[in-house]
Formats: sequence, C-alpha cells, structure tokens
Amino acid sequence: MTDKNKVYIFDTTMRDGEQSPGASMSLEEKIQIARVFDELGIDIIEAGFPIASPGDFEATSEVSKILKKSIPAGLSRHSKKDIDRCYEALKHAPRFRIHTFISTSPLHMKHKLNKSSEEVYESIKEHVTYARKFTDDVEWSCEDGTRTNMDFMCRTVELAIKSGAKTINIPDTVGYTVPSEFTKIIQTLMNKVPNIDKAILSVHCHNDLGLAVANSLAGISAGARQVECTINGIGERAGNASLEEIVMAIKTRNDLMPYETGINTTLLSKASKVVSNATFPVQFNKAIVGKNAFAHEAGIHQDGMLKNRNTYEIMTPESVGVKKTSLVMGKHSGRHAFKDKLNELGYVDITDDVIQTAFGKFKVLADKKKHVYDDDIAALVDDSLIKEDNVINLKSLKVFAGTGEPQRAEMTLEVYGEIKKSTETGDGPVDAIFKCIKTLYPHDVNLQLYQVHAVTEGTDAQATVSVRIEENGKTTVGQAADTDTLVASANAYINALNKMIIKRDKIAPGQSNEQKYEQKMKGI
Ligand code: KIV
Ligand code: ZN
Repeated sequence: MTDKNKVYIFDTTMRDGEQSPGASMSLEEKIQIARVFDELGIDIIEAGFPIASPGDFEATSEVSKILKKSIPAGLSRHSKKDIDRCYEALKHAPRFRIHTFISTSPLHMKHKLNKSSEEVYESIKEHVTYARKFTDDVEWSCEDGTRTNMDFMCRTVELAIKSGAKTINIPDTVGYTVPSEFTKIIQTLMNKVPNIDKAILSVHCHNDLGLAVANSLAGISAGARQVECTINGIGERAGNASLEEIVMAIKTRNDLMPYETGINTTLLSKASKVVSNATFPVQFNKAIVGKNAFAHEAGIHQDGMLKNRNTYEIMTPESVGVKKTSLVMGKHSGRHAFKDKLNELGYVDITDDVIQTAFGKFKVLADKKKHVYDDDIAALVDDSLIKEDNVINLKSLKVFAGTGEPQRAEMTLEVYGEIKKSTETGDGPVDAIFKCIKTLYPHDVNLQLYQVHAVTEGTDAQATVSVRIEENGKTTVGQAADTDTLVASANAYINALNKMIIKRDKIAPGQSNEQKYEQKMKGI
C-alpha cells in the first residue's frame, strides 16, 4: 500500500447527519460521539455548522477541543461572517479545517442564489482566500455538483485550488447521479483540471436513489481520495453514504479496491450504537451494523454456517465489533442448528428423543411467534424433559372467557393412557381449567402458588406459568410455557401433578398410583 492509496474518511454525522429529521443531538451526545469517532480512526470530523445556531457553535467548539487524532472541521457558506464563526469555533484545536461551499448548478445558482455563474466564480476566489487566512486546511465544495455543467465545474475547481483549497469536494447533493456518470465526473476533473494534483479530490453522496455508497466507491476508484459519509448513513432525506458500508466494502473487496482507510473496523458497531442512541434506531437489515447483519435463520444457511462460516459470511462479525454470528431460531431453522443452540444453552446430555420432541414443539412455536428467544427454547426443552414419564397429558383445551357468562373450560386429558373429557365452569378461566383437571384426575392437593410471567417481550411473548401444589406436607412445582397463558396454566398444573404422582410412588411404594386412581374413579 502506498500513500496514494490512502482514502481519507471525512465524517459528517454531526453536521449533515444531524440535518436528518429527528437526528438532532445534544452537546453531551456530540461529545460522546466525537470521542468514539476519534478512537475509530476517522481522519476529519465535521462537528457542525457554527453560524447555524449557538448550539452548533458550542458543539463544534467543544468537540474540537477534545479530539486527540481526528481533525475537526466546521461548515461555512461563502460568507465572511460564516467563515469567522467557523474559525471562532475551531480556533482552540491545534489543527482544524474550514469547509466552505457554494452551489454551482444552473438550477441552484438561478433559483437559490439568484447569482450568475460569473458571480459564483468570483465568490470562490474571495472566500477560499479569506478562509485561508485562518488555516492551511481549507476545503471547498461545489454544492449540487452532479447537476453542474462539467466545463464550469472544471473552471471552479481550478480556481478554488489556485485560491488555496487543499481539498475539493464534489457533492451529489440530491442523490441524483449513478456510478457510471459519477466515475466520468471524477475522471474528467482528474484529467482536465491542470492543478488537480495540488488538492485531494473528495466525494460526498446522498442516498436518494439508494446509490450513495456505490457512487462513493465509484468516485474513489476514479481517483477521489477523500470520502464524506456518516455513521448509519444518517443525513438529509434518504441520508448520506454510510461510513461503515464504504469502509467494509473497501476492506472486504480489497482485491478490486486496493485502498486503505485508517478506520479500526472493530469499533464500527460501537460507533453505530452511540449514534443510534442519540438519533434513531438502525433498521434491522442495515448492512454491517443492523441487528440482522450477521444473523442467519434459514435452515440451509445455518447448516452451511455450522460446517464452514465462509459459506454464508463474507466478513466476520468480529471484524466490525459484533461478538459473534447469531443463528436466529425461527421457523426456517433446521434440526442441526436447533441442536447446536441447545448445546450453547447448556443442554449437552439430553437424549435424541427429547431433542426431537422439543424440536417439534419449537417448530409449532416458531410458526406462532416472530422471534423465538433463547429463553423460549429453554422453556420448551425443560417442558420436554419433564414430560418424559408423564401420567397425565393435556390433549386439548378450549376456554370460553369474557364478560357476561361464567367462564367455561372444555378439556381432554390422557390419564394413564385413557382419553377423558370434561367441561366445567369456574370463577374465571383458570379456575374452570383447574376444575376440569380435578374432575378428570380426582385428587386432593392444595394450590399454594399460581404465578404467570412473560419469558420474552411483546404481546406475542411466551408466558411461563408456575404452579405449586401441596399434598400431605409434600410440595411440587410445575412449570409450563406457551404463547397462550391458559394452555401454559393447564400444563403447569398438570406438570405439578405429574411430579406429585412420581413423588408418591417413590415415597409410598406398594399400591401403585394407577391402582389408587382406579379406586378413586370407582369411588372405592
Ligand atoms: O450535500 C451537500 O451538498 C452538502 C454540502 C454542504 C457539502 O452537504
Ligand atoms: Zn450533504
């Protein structure tokens, strides 16, 4: 790698990024973000637009004071007042950049600036020269560059460099260009502007057509050596080019893009979090930093991943600071991944039969729930383990609840292999359910505890119900999980009873429970 392959990363999360609706950041948040960005290895951090507001001024100023390696920058229009404010905000930093811009497209010059192209041209000399009084590090941008006449752009760029700009930034302000066109723009500047070697060419792409990263990479391949971007791709309208995507594209496809950035990619996830905490959440499927970026749900993919990560992973999660690939358990997951997940959860010695039963239940649950969490799986396996020697099994349950009539439960149980049905009303649906169980398997136990808690979040959460029963001083606790709280309640009670039956057998051998049950049913 030579220096000519170094691509400077100019981050504008706190300036252009903050211009996205809902993304305004407090001073404290900006300082926290700046510290992470500094550590991340960003070359230039545009901390604000100091003339825009006292808050922007203060944030630019405070950020510029704390940076250790990154160079702080501030934005200014072609206005001496703007440039003065920029200087005032940045002057405490040992090195800083003033970034000044003006529109150069016919549309903007006419409707926004109400200036002729010659007036704009003259203004470049005046303002770049003025900014150079404060620092050697002046960047000049031609706003709406990609809709600017190419010959005019070449003239303005040449003049900006002559006037002292060290960085020339070509913004695709409205996200209008496409990679092939942007390549030509950058190549034309590289070939036609006589003093282009005296400056670094920069690209700044917006994402209105979803092409910001592709256009930025095209610009780099055509000769740009600075890229302006934001963490999580936040920015005006559809956002700016995403820093993490550009950096990881260069790193992952270094065979095609032999460039180097100074970014410590293992901090990308941290940077994304600090920005999203201050602004808004990142979409789940966002490249590099989205929650699902390293998650695999499809059974075939999970199976491939377990055999060799390279089958479905082009970069490691560790390389962007994510702890590890997650095999998300959902309806597409296969048995192999399920078994692997059980091992991960500490279920190492369970039999194939239990795994098979739990896997069957997991598939049913996954059809009902969007997200199956680890706790859901643990609850299912516990349930399967317990039910291996069950005397009583729930076959079906219907509950009629609501206002007006008494609540009613219709239940079918398998008791010692025999199918039995009952319908009971009760003081609430749970009471009706427990009465059904008592009718179908007569017993005298005290209900000591009935507790419901959601294992997972959301209205589709799995409920776990715990039931504690007592008989002759002996207690057992039953637990069951289901998305239907009433089904979980029935199963928890039955589970407690099954345990009590096993306990009775162990404690008072002799007449079997089955015999006792038959006698009870016959009224003996
Ligand atoms: O998109 C744009 O044109 C800008 C400039 C101010 C650089 O953000
Ligand atoms: Zn912009």
